[in-house]
Amino acid sequence: MKSWPGIRSGTIHDAMNPETLEATLIELLGGDAKKVSRARDVMEQHSIDKWYAHHLPDIVVFAESTADVQAVMKFANEHEIPVTTRGGGVGYVGGAVPWKGGIVLSVRRMDEILEINPTDGVAVVQPGVILGDLQKAVRDQGWFYPPDPSSLKECTVGGTVATNAGGPRCLKYGVTRHYVLGLEVVLADGRVLRTGGRCHKNKTGFDLIGMFVGSEGLLGVVTEITVRIIPHPPARATFSVGFREFREAATAVQRIFAEGYLPSALEIADKFTLEAARNYPGNDFIPDGDAHLLVDLDGQESSVKSEVESLRGLLESLQPLSIDVAFGQDQCEQLWEIRRSFSYSLRDTGLKKLNEDIVVPRSRLMDLVHFGQQLQEETGYAVASFGHAGDGNIHVNIMVEERVLVEEKDKVDAALDRLFHQVLDWKGVITGEHGIGLAKKRWFSAATSDVSREVHSGLKAMLDPKGILNPGKFV
Ligand code: LAC
Ligand code: ZN
Repeated sequence: MKSWPGIRSGTIHDAMNPETLEATLIELLGGDAKKVSRARDVMEQHSIDKWYAHHLPDIVVFAESTADVQAVMKFANEHEIPVTTRGGGVGYVGGAVPWKGGIVLSVRRMDEILEINPTDGVAVVQPGVILGDLQKAVRDQGWFYPPDPSSLKECTVGGTVATNAGGPRCLKYGVTRHYVLGLEVVLADGRVLRTGGRCHKNKTGFDLIGMFVGSEGLLGVVTEITVRIIPHPPARATFSVGFREFREAATAVQRIFAEGYLPSALEIADKFTLEAARNYPGNDFIPDGDAHLLVDLDGQESSVKSEVESLRGLLESLQPLSIDVAFGQDQCEQLWEIRRSFSYSLRDTGLKKLNEDIVVPRSRLMDLVHFGQQLQEETGYAVASFGHAGDGNIHVNIMVEERVLVEEKDKVDAALDRLFHQVLDWKGVITGEHGIGLAKKRWFSAATSDVSREVHSGLKAMLDPKGILNPGKFV
């Protein structure tokens, strides 16, 4: 891949000094100067996500239409200028960090919900719509868009497409990929590809949607998304269960499945995570104990009520420290507040959170937590584990002081190496929902075969021959 020399380095064509670049882009964007910025604060805001890597772009473009995106891509392709697409900028792996400078192409202003159509079971949105806003708009019509990453109030639908975002409800309802029916994508050279549509089944040709969903901005710029929506289950219940120790909570996970329940979410948290949550202001419902389970059930009211009764029996037989049950959206959400705050409360400890989102085969849950404890003892770094126990997708967070990231970089890398290689040995994967970005680039080779990487490179070369889309990442 050709690397971008950087406008500031002065090695690019003279005509492309920053002022010229800005003027040219304004002209291409219909003469609207508000669509670009080189202001220091704007550039800084667009240089980082929730991981700690950062790199300044040379300019930020705020696209307002597909035509704007096309104009930028045609120009950038011709001049081989890197383009890093950005939505909410709240990813966890540095995926939206413009690692080679160039243009940050923000789609944040493309934030219109174009259609919600319950009859067809679809919603059509622009990529900059905040996920929570889409969910609410759909819900107001009695419908449901299930994917629910914890960042749902801040992340964009486009960002969830780029990462194939998951969340607690994926256990029953599936990840973002399972909801995307159609995409409009501007390719690296500015051509517009429309693939899929508004039909719930579609087997016309290759699964191009599957290729773009989760492609982390490396293959094209998504400018319109058609998603599947489903009827909102009218009733919901949440169990919040406190256990003495993690082993008991992990056993409960297996028993719940073995007894034939498929909760809409099944979330676990360990001792460190719970203690951080207890110290975080505003968390009211935190049961005692060193492990915690949240179990959600949804469906028709009569079936939820009867499942709650039988599941309560099962949970009681496991002798937890406490069982709380809530019914209805508002009460359930109160029990969920603690879970939704985990990322924030861990950050509030003052430690840096190396947030991993590994997935292990579900039978390895206990092994994983033992491994975390061992790692903690041997390195002296705290390990906080929580997450989507139902699908084996656990956030194993190595918690370190900021200075450690610099002073003990090799030791931190070695700890992460051990974690990822152990996970791969168990036939797990290095990321379940956050993506590779920069943060996991180091383990991408170990996690993929030579042939798989050749196929990745081949697709990249075909769709983005000049390597301008989100360069410096994993392909
Ligand atoms: C969560 C994010 C970290 O599950 O994926 O809260
Ligand atoms: Zn998660």
